[in-house]
Amino acid sequence: ASRTELAGKSVLVTAGGTAERLDPVRFLTNDSSGKMGFALAEAAANRGADVTLIAARTTAPPIVGVKLVRVESAEQMLQAVLERYDAADIVIKAAAVADYRPVSQAPTKIKKSEEKLVLELERTTDILKTLGERKTHQFLVGFAAETEQVAQYAMDKLRRKNCDLVVANDVSQDGAGFNLDTNVVQIFGKDGLIEALPQLHKREVADHLLERIVRQMQKKPAG
Ligand code: PMT
Repeated sequence: ASRTELAGKSVLVTAGGTAERLDPVRFLTNDSSGKMGFALAEAAANRGADVTLIAARTTAPPIVGVKLVRVESAEQMLQAVLERYDAADIVIKAAAVADYRPVSQAPTKIKKSEEKLVLELERTTDILKTLGERKTHQFLVGFAAETEQVAQYAMDKLRRKNCDLVVANDVSQDGAGFNLDTNVVQIFGKDGLIEALPQLHKREVADHLLERIVRQMQKKPAG
């Protein structure tokens, strides 16, 4: 059944793995399928929100009632998010964004030779950090994909990137993380761990997270 907790709210979700091009036919990417972000977009739309999903590479099908904006690179995702940031009430960054991209993109297919090929990479812009710096009224939710010291790294991300919540998945655990139908997450707020969820389907994780967001926003009015 559809619900109304987020009626009138504009929700921006990012999903999928960015692709950073080396040449017209090759790119660097990661294992994100977009399932977590798509589940969040669907759960937010189901609560009455006006949802825009900014998706890099994914295998997930489009969702009825959710605006889908396709991007490829971290830079394109940054621009797509910034264009819509002022109008957003809630921003959830479930995408796996590349931290590095090739310094240059070859205009034509790179030819092989007998020599080693060395790729030079440069840092991409940290989208979440940029959003944290420019935050006015938005409720900002980051994800953290960790393999060790999950709580410490999640809290560090929350503070450095000025997030309201950070959802940490220990991607070394069975049933958690990239390219699966399930996830195992811990939700952190400014005062530390709020909730540790068991292994659930990503859609159930999304429902829990949205309920938590609604509650936190009621506790602490925006502004
Ligand atoms: O897509 P699925 O297959 O369903 O998998 C889901 C997921 C594992 C990708 C998802 O649950 C998840 O954890 N997404 C974040 C993965 C990630 O890149 O984590 P990170 O710890 O490297 O980044 C932390 C946060 O900063 C993330 O919100 C990320 O979107 C953001 N970031 C990172 C780098 C960058 N240049 N810009 C960013 O905004």
